Amino acid sequence: MNLLLINGPNLNMLGTREPKVYGSETLKDVESMLIAHAMQHEIVLKCEQSNAEHELVTIVQQSMGKVDGIIINPGAYTHTSIALRDAFLATQIPFIEVHLSNVYQRETFRHTSYLSDIAKGVIVGLGTNGYKLAVDAFANS
Ligand code: DQA
Repeated sequence: MNLLLINGPNLNMLGTREPKVYGSETLKDVESMLIAHAMQHEIVLKCEQSNAEHELVTIVQQSMGKVDGIIINPGAYTHTSIALRDAFLATQIPFIEVHLSNVYQRETFRHTSYLSDIAKGVIVGLGTNGYKLAVDAFANS
């Protein structure tokens, strides 16, 4: 199985960005941990990060026919991006939406997601363990 992990805007700053909310692991730490975790399930995991909405749309489009699923933390674009929603609708790639923080305990603008209703599943508030659980969910499906 081939999976793609996509992290959206500001997630390149993990480790230094609001550590009380997002933890102290860097994105590199998280990606390495997940690649190793995926390997245990005989899954090949590739990782992408972009701060740009159009790049995220292109990454999703170009993944069509190449991956069996996407694990995505869309960052703030979760709450704004119809374009990203449309990319998932267009490609029909199954995806799991992950948020490190529990967005429902935060500002009300974070309670809306343009992706959740079309996602295979949504994991919030479990920190980086959420990404691992998303890999497990694909492995067991
Ligand atoms: C986030 C939650 C979003 O509201 C925020 O904009 C992020 C990170 C999370 O992982 O908790 O950038 O997706």
